Amino acid sequence: MNSITKEIKVWDLLIRLFHWGLVMTFIIAYASEDDFMLIHSYAGYTIMGLLLIRVIWGLIGTKYARFSEFIRPPHEALNYIKDTASFKAKRYLGHNPAGGLMIIALLLSLLLTTLTGLGAYGVEGGGPLAIWFSGIGHFGKEAFEEVHEFFANLTLFLIIVHVAGVILGSISHGENLVRAMFTGLKQTD
Ligand code: HEM
Repeated sequence: MNSITKEIKVWDLLIRLFHWGLVMTFIIAYASEDDFMLIHSYAGYTIMGLLLIRVIWGLIGTKYARFSEFIRPPHEALNYIKDTASFKAKRYLGHNPAGGLMIIALLLSLLLTTLTGLGAYGVEGGGPLAIWFSGIGHFGKEAFEEVHEFFANLTLFLIIVHVAGVILGSISHGENLVRAMFTGLKQTD
């Protein structure tokens, strides 16, 4: 059997477009936070749209995209991390239990970042939440901005751990996970 026939499609096109679209829009949103509010808010709306699509796809999408395929109890994630530390972690075709938990943390943190951003924008009289939040005063504005910044930085922290996990996973199983997120393909065992 040659190497081509041993590769199977794990990440479908939607997952790959979602992933690299998210990477690009997150970078744009993070870099534009202070001086380019229009770009910042459009990047935020795009992230919200991507999250919505991903949640729907997690319910009705292809095998490895489904939440039911990769959401595992925290103790399985912990055992996986312990196994990784002793170089005996099992290889998964989809997300491993720790990776799966990280994906949920990333999606939630991104959602809270965008929602609080929308709130902060609303306080300033912009966006769909303006009817509720505009005019709640200086304290409300400060509070939204603080919480928004907290979640943006939490997301950044999770991304750093996520990328470190991807590198560690690639090394410990001798495979290129980043390449797989571009091609969608992974070798079967
Ligand atoms: C250059 C930086 C990045 C690299 C190299 C990278 C790489 C990857 C890889 C290889 C996977 C698949 C993991 C696996 O095999 O189980 C993945 C999944 C994922 N990454 Fe990243 N990532 C990066 C940045 C980001 C950023 C910035 C975000 C969020 C803003 C993010 C969010 C996600 C999410 C949500 C998934 C799950 C994909 C899905 O099932 O929908 N990643 N990433």
